[in-house]
Amino acid sequence: MKAFESLNVEIKEGIYWLTLNRPEARNALDAKMLEEIDTALVEAEADEDVRVIIIQGAGGKSFAAGADIKQLNTRKPLEALIPGMQGLYQKLENSKKVTIAAVNGYALGGGCELALACDIRIATNKAKLGLPELNLGIIPGAGGTQRLARIVGKGRALDMILTGKIIDGEEAERIGLVTYFVSEDELTSKVESIAGDILKKGPVAIQLAKFAVHKGYDIDEGTAMWIEKLSQAVAFGTEDKDEGTKAFIEKRKAEFKNR
Ligand code: CAA
Repeated sequence: MKAFESLNVEIKEGIYWLTLNRPEARNALDAKMLEEIDTALVEAEADEDVRVIIIQGAGGKSFAAGADIKQLNTRKPLEALIPGMQGLYQKLENSKKVTIAAVNGYALGGGCELALACDIRIATNKAKLGLPELNLGIIPGAGGTQRLARIVGKGRALDMILTGKIIDGEEAERIGLVTYFVSEDELTSKVESIAGDILKKGPVAIQLAKFAVHKGYDIDEGTAMWIEKLSQAVAFGTEDKDEGTKAFIEKRKAEFKNR
């Protein structure tokens, strides 16, 4: 496992715990941290034993306070065209592992967009989420204008983006921005319990289901149905499908092999 400056990573029982660790800057995502997240994702992706990636923030006050504003201050227009944070979050969304954002404290701007790029989001009673980029004279540029609208609907996304309002975890759950709302004390047990459910499933089926939902979401329904059909055909060719169906018939727990 690689050593990082701005991240803590730990692999435990199939889970890759990725902790953003710049609490003195509220875990703001500077160039170094983004580079390290990229490296960590490559590492997690390559590890067959890792099935779930959980992203959280160190320090208790912040998940991530967004892009590093000190670095944004000197950024030129053409530098904003590189894949950067948006490209990194695309990689995260395309990961074959299941990604979970455990949001405690601030998830603002690029921090909120990081959570939006995960498959499952959990927020605590201390969470504060928002896209306040317009306060800085810029717009959400790491998928926020697109993913937020797809997740909570265009009206709510426009309201949040145009007013820059910060909402708490309870409201985030009410509008569907996060999947679960828990107290701070319950956060770790909740993410572990969700991860535990995922770990019981066949890894190939997980990957195919995630692919079908993400890739089918933005295209016409007929083509999306074909994506589902073809993904299912792949699943039917796996030993995991033989094992999963056989285990049900034999009334025992399935032992999936990822093939
Ligand atoms: N970038 C750089 N530094 C940041 C930062 C950020 N996004 N957020 C916080 N920090 C730094 C502060 O500058 C401060 O540093 P110093 O101690 O050296 O002064 C330190 O973290 C602590 O911050 P505060 O004193 O402000 O802490 P707080 O608890 O009172 O407030 C906060 C926390 C509400 C998160 C506040 O810091 C804040 O509003 N941060 C900016 C949030 C923001 O606008 N994010 C969007 C960034 S743009 C973006 O993300 C673009 C995109 O789409 C990719």
